Amino acid sequence: MEPVDHSDGHGGHGGALVPDEPIANPGVPEHLPRPTDVDPAKEKRAERQVAGFFGLSAICTILFAVSYFTFDVGDNWHVVGGLGASTVALGGTLGLSLLFIGIAIIHWSRKLMGDDELVEMRHPAYSGEADRQRTLDDLRTGYEETGIARRPLIVRSALGSLALLGVPAVILLRDLGPLPGDKLYHTIWGQGGRKITVIEDGEEVEVEVPKMRISRDAIGTPILASDLEIGDLVNAQPEVLFNPERYYVPHAEVEGAALQTHKSKASLILLRMEPEDIKPGKGREDWSVNGIVAYSKICTHVGCPISLNERTTHHLLCPCHQSTFDMTDSGNVIFGPAGRPLPQLPIEIDDQGYLVAQSDFTEPVGPSFWERDYEER
Ligand code: FES
Repeated sequence: MEPVDHSDGHGGHGGALVPDEPIANPGVPEHLPRPTDVDPAKEKRAERQVAGFFGLSAICTILFAVSYFTFDVGDNWHVVGGLGASTVALGGTLGLSLLFIGIAIIHWSRKLMGDDELVEMRHPAYSGEADRQRTLDDLRTGYEETGIARRPLIVRSALGSLALLGVPAVILLRDLGPLPGDKLYHTIWGQGGRKITVIEDGEEVEVEVPKMRISRDAIGTPILASDLEIGDLVNAQPEVLFNPERYYVPHAEVEGAALQTHKSKASLILLRMEPEDIKPGKGREDWSVNGIVAYSKICTHVGCPISLNERTTHHLLCPCHQSTFDMTDSGNVIFGPAGRPLPQLPIEIDDQGYLVAQSDFTEPVGPSFWERDYEER
């Protein structure tokens, strides 16, 4: 048969040679039996292997439950490769449990289930009675080929490992509690300006801790009010996280999991605008300085970090669900699902020109929660 050139010279087939008859259907390759199809000993061994993988999965699931109650999330003693032991143990055991189930199913299907290659011709979307019946027959055949009815060992081990997978889901419900209580009412900003008693030369002396300086996030440099230009937005953290001695805070309280907790609660956005743009809320007349305002960086919807600044309007946008807060007007919500304004941190300048917090936040930071309005604190 001679190939025919169907190109029209105008890009039809780009000059390619197209055969004048369709390529013949090569058909389904001959089915070759697998060792497990012809050797009962190998079949039995594959069956035990599948059951073994399901058994390993069950063991890993039990180890997950044991790990959950053994390792404390905040326990920094058990650190593996920079990760907490709790993270490694929970992730490792649950991951292996799922992996073994996957391996067992793949092994089962490759070695023991039917491996005949089937061809289904295209047909109209509607299936006639004959097709339906054939589908049912195929399903029945497939069911029989899985050998479920003949392999109670696999069925029992599969059911056991799958049933145990519900245990982690139930255990993790425990992490829905406890309720935050008053923990969100206080942040580490409150460590500045307090009075404490220290021992000096064997004597108890009362000292006033310096007011908390506001530092640049990540690098920890305290911020001079004169450093900020109109329109600047700066991500900030309390200086105590970088320099705990200055605030009489033990290092252990600002390390590891404690550091992450403090950072997440105390994260701040600083914004400088023209002082006359600010509409101070009642009782907030002295909460800003030279047009600089400070707000919690944590969205009051479900807690995403906020950082998108509309420079001309001084609106701050949350990237998660587009809640928009007005930085000129006490952080009020002007758009989106957030239910309350961004908490504002009252700030001032210390005698060296650095920005400091006057106090802690006066309301809880982060998403709203159902205990929040129970009582005024
Ligand atoms: S978390 Fe900010 S809008 Fe949803």
